[in-house]
Amino acid sequence: MAWEKYAEAARSLGPNPFYAVAAPHLPEPGHVLELGFGVGTGVKWWLDRGWQVTGIDEDPDMVRETLALVNHNPSCEIIQSPYLSVPWPQGCDVIAAVFSLFFASPKDFPELWNRIHHHVRPNGLFIGQLLGPEDDWAAPHITTHTAGEVDALLKGWEVLHREEVKRDGKTVFGEPKHWHVHHLILRRAEEVDRSV
Ligand SMILES: C[S@@+](CC[C@H](N)C(=O)[O-])C[C@H]1O[C@@H](n2cnc3c(N)ncnc32)[C@H](O)[C@@H]1O
Repeated sequence: MAWEKYAEAARSLGPNPFYAVAAPHLPEPGHVLELGFGVGTGVKWWLDRGWQVTGIDEDPDMVRETLALVNHNPSCEIIQSPYLSVPWPQGCDVIAAVFSLFFASPKDFPELWNRIHHHVRPNGLFIGQLLGPEDDWAAPHITTHTAGEVDALLKGWEVLHREEVKRDGKTVFGEPKHWHVHHLILRRAEEVDRSV
């Protein structure tokens, strides 16, 4: 079954290497909102480092898998929902969306990006990826951004890490895939005038 194959492959890979890239930029452990946690290896990464985690994912299989992995840890709240259908915690120290934000539709993306800005505390971080239009996954229901379109999203954020990767690689299943990804680690600016 496709789901079981995905879960097994994702579990065996462990947390995405991007968490290690983000680690030197992180503040002291606080509250992280993890959007699209998949099999939960990222959720566990935060818990193992003393963070309180709220995770939102719409897929019931991912939710079941993650609840089993974190063993109902009291520092962890797992919510099964589309991103925008539930209220988010206010004042997050970090919002993480590791290979998960671009699955939102182009119609939902502006509200999603705005929500992220409003729910990270000033000086808190966003960490995650956006997808470029040359990626093999690019499709009308997926949100992609050119480098110039990423520039436009950075108002109100200080860039701590930004890398655009275009390369032939593999999926979680080991299948060939062309990747076009923007890796981002952003710090919310103290004060922003968003009226212009
Ligand atoms: C490729 S997985 C990423 C998993 C994980 N972040 C990791 O690093 O391995 C993307 C996840 O995002 C979730 N997802 C995609 N779109 C979503 C949406 N609109 N609302 C909630 N969850 C969503 C999927 O269910 C899936 O679990």
